[in-house]
Amino acid sequence: MKILCLETTCDETAAAVITGDLEVLASVVASQADLHEAFNGVVPEIAARAHVERIFPVIDQTLKQAQLTLGELDAIAVANTPGLSGSLIVGVVAAKTLCLVNDLPLLAINHLHAHVFACQLDAKESVFPCVGMVVSGGHTHLYKYQDALNATYLGGTIDDAAGEAFDKVASMLGLSYPGGPAISKAALSGDPKKHAFPRSFIHDDRLDFSFSGLKTAVRYAIGGPGSRDVHAIELSEQQVFDLSASFQQAVVDCLVSKAIKAVQQSGLKTICVGGGVAANRVFRDQLSQQCEKQGIQLHFAALQYCTDNAVMGAIAVERFKAGLFEDLTLDIKPGLVRH
Ligand code: KG4
Ligand code: ZN
Repeated sequence: MKILCLETTCDETAAAVITGDLEVLASVVASQADLHEAFNGVVPEIAARAHVERIFPVIDQTLKQAQLTLGELDAIAVANTPGLSGSLIVGVVAAKTLCLVNDLPLLAINHLHAHVFACQLDAKESVFPCVGMVVSGGHTHLYKYQDALNATYLGGTIDDAAGEAFDKVASMLGLSYPGGPAISKAALSGDPKKHAFPRSFIHDDRLDFSFSGLKTAVRYAIGGPGSRDVHAIELSEQQVFDLSASFQQAVVDCLVSKAIKAVQQSGLKTICVGGGVAANRVFRDQLSQQCEKQGIQLHFAALQYCTDNAVMGAIAVERFKAGLFEDLTLDIKPGLVRH
């Protein structure tokens, strides 16, 4: 079985060909980071336009890499939820058109569950059932998975996503976009205990997160409550390092604590973590230490499959096997569906 998977939920135009044994025959990711850098975040209209320009060249390159033609595929899968409307629609229209023209079955991919499924790609045995954690630019959520296709929502952020907080704090500190890699680099030379930033709900049993108060606390640590334009305040290099390290540690403490609580409350023994923030070295190290202490089996998505890519669309192989095909009325669902 060979499936072409497409990913255009946010600002990466990506395609991959995956086999029924989860072998990756080809993978191409066209990042738009350079287009959005000047705005310190993704501009939806720019993202949609760039997807239109890139989707077919990316598909062509992917098929060339896999040494396949469209006619040799068994299905096409596309991420149709959640994401930016204008971005999602490009991938969905491309997939539906290619399925219609080449008489191929169509499969849908839930982008969040795909982030968790990325953990299955390197695993020798099934990682399911497990607790799944998605920590990305748009989402910070915990699920209980009975299997790859059946998940129950356990909790998530009530405001900003973890990655969004990294991006916004990086902007306040004058660091580059995307903020996660820039902050984690600056944090290497900083003191994580320099600022006592808030860790919302950390002593609570609820499996929710909140990062907007933390973001405001960083803002006040930079300029005090009265400051209007935080970007205009000059910080020394060491101040940026310390603020980065203290902010990162606050986020990591919340993520680690809730991940462990979710596993304990679920009665399961395994946790799978995916999404851009799962690339964070301090988070990976500290969650690994805690899981080892608690006897929890931990799977992180491989580094190249943490940020958005089409390989994680391999979850479509499970849908193919379960006979869960779509017809050409498949639509985008931009908003978060909590299941
Ligand atoms: O999963 P992703 O590519 O896109 C979404 O589905 O949102 O995640 C992108 C997010 C960005 O907010 C970026 O700053 C964050 O992942 N990120 C990181 C790191 N690398 C990327 N956050 C913390 N540490 C990192 N090393
Ligand atoms: Zn994502």
